[in-house]
Amino acid sequence: MHRIHLCPADLRFPVARGNDLLSAAAETGIRVPVACRNGVCEICEARLISGQALNTRNQQPIPTGERLMMCRTQALSDIELEIPAVMATGMYQPKVYMAKVVDVSAISHDVHRVELKLPRRRDVGFHAGQYLSVNLPDADPCYFSIASSPAEDNIVLHIQAAPDWVSAQKVIDALTSGEEIMVELPHGKACLAAAPDKPLVLVAAGTGFAQMKSLVEYLKTTNFRHTVKLFWGVRKQEDMYLRSLAQQWHDEWGAFTFVPVIGDDEDNDWGGHHDQLVRAVLASGADWSNVEVHASGSPAMVYSLMDALTEAGLPEGAFLSDVLEYAPRA
Ligand code: FES
Repeated sequence: MHRIHLCPADLRFPVARGNDLLSAAAETGIRVPVACRNGVCEICEARLISGQALNTRNQQPIPTGERLMMCRTQALSDIELEIPAVMATGMYQPKVYMAKVVDVSAISHDVHRVELKLPRRRDVGFHAGQYLSVNLPDADPCYFSIASSPAEDNIVLHIQAAPDWVSAQKVIDALTSGEEIMVELPHGKACLAAAPDKPLVLVAAGTGFAQMKSLVEYLKTTNFRHTVKLFWGVRKQEDMYLRSLAQQWHDEWGAFTFVPVIGDDEDNDWGGHHDQLVRAVLASGADWSNVEVHASGSPAMVYSLMDALTEAGLPEGAFLSDVLEYAPRA
């Protein structure tokens, strides 16, 4: 087993003897541009900065400083590569696109599933867990988590059009199948550019589930070797709009645990403090010094969870949430 270091993204992944670098990167969830997988199209080109590597097309060693195709290269030692096409968290620059609305359908009493098709999808990069804005004419941008994995062709959103969320209701009213809308993506640093080398705890409140769905579906495409535990908190049973999907992950993926947390089940004031969800996460008894936590929900829930977990021993850098970026604490 050798270690590969990709620059400038500063991403690392292991590669087993006999495996090519492209396959090994994909198993860790690192997105390297790929097409022919045979050393012909040159889309997976990188440059060898240090270490020893073998060109498997001609069985010749690759000199330091030379270009190589990751799909036709094996590592003979730990190596460092330069590949500008691989992006780390936060390195994708948001861009505006016109997206076609493929489908809008209600998946609960107030949540809509929206499917968008982007032109030249292969050229649009984002990481699992990022979000986009829908930019309607004469309205402020409206932000939604991307609920689909970067590996999927179309982009899926879960939009909650509750009566007290006027801007989201406007977006739903404006979306008609077949129409085009303006979107900007990707946004957000609480995402995964590669599968982390530690267990994951995912905590979602309400439609925060969308972000977790993108992360889970991405992790399922990698060779993730650790456990994943998803806590999903809602006010009422009927708000858990894709419970059967989360349960299916639980039933089919041995490393995955789903813990539903429903306000109805306990006589508490869910809207006040989200205590029930935080208590459920704390009670899971994880080794907080060695997990990565991703949280999506209201600032009140996210900060109360972060405080509780850091007090329990979670290192500060191991807690990721977009809330820390868009609603920083004073
Ligand atoms: S994928 Fe075509 S050269 Fe590697």
